[in-house]
Amino acid sequence: MNHWPYPFWFAHRGAGTHAPENTLAAFRLGMAQGFNGFECDVKVSAEGVPYLLHDNDLDRTTSAKGPAQHWLWSDLSRLDAGVWHSKSYAGEPPASLDAVMNFCVGNHCAVNLEIKPCPGQAYSTGKQIAHWLAHRWPGNLCPPLISSFEPQALQGFMDFGAAWPRALLLDETSHQSVACALSLGCSALVVNHVSLVAEQINYAKSHGLRVLAFTVNSIDVVERLQGCGIDGLISDEIFKFAPLIQR
Ligand code: G3P
Ligand code: MG
Repeated sequence: MNHWPYPFWFAHRGAGTHAPENTLAAFRLGMAQGFNGFECDVKVSAEGVPYLLHDNDLDRTTSAKGPAQHWLWSDLSRLDAGVWHSKSYAGEPPASLDAVMNFCVGNHCAVNLEIKPCPGQAYSTGKQIAHWLAHRWPGNLCPPLISSFEPQALQGFMDFGAAWPRALLLDETSHQSVACALSLGCSALVVNHVSLVAEQINYAKSHGLRVLAFTVNSIDVVERLQGCGIDGLISDEIFKFAPLIQR
């Protein structure tokens, strides 16, 4: 199997249950609990600046409304991405990928960048993020693990950044999805734990893929998947699982 520089545990949406998801405040909270791996959702602004946002629309997690697709980063960066979570996070801005990179440089951590393209932009978003990383990401920093539910996003990424590690995100895995991941040059699958069983993990691993699971919030599921040889877990439960993290 290829070199795998990632920690076992990733805080989901940058530890985005206990702090506002996909903001640096969430990363800081996860870090304080001992996490050094962070999953986050990345899309690009209208002028091509990569930034973190889960939804297609701004309504749920920012102070603005409507589709994010046509917003410039200069305007997005002035939104409040914290107050929806709780008053104590009022004024927390959306995070650019540039800010995430600087956080990783300063804190020696790894990121799983889930490409969450705006509608109709999967291929171009993958391509834009590959270009951005090629020009900006320091060569001595752990490379982001690039993942997406959308094969077209991974295709766009692969066409312009084939050397970066990639993973196919899946709600359920199958022999076909293993073949799809391999055709996209992926080194891992990231699968919804609800549907994931040992036979599927073994099958993917026998084809040279690592297997991670999301979003694992119960100790029973952690133990079940560890018994099946899982390679990594993405979790919201930064407090509950802090004692399990090797520092
Ligand atoms: O990357 C795993 C997980 O984040 C996928 O689901 O909706 O939380 O982005 P979602
Ligand atoms: Mg995600």
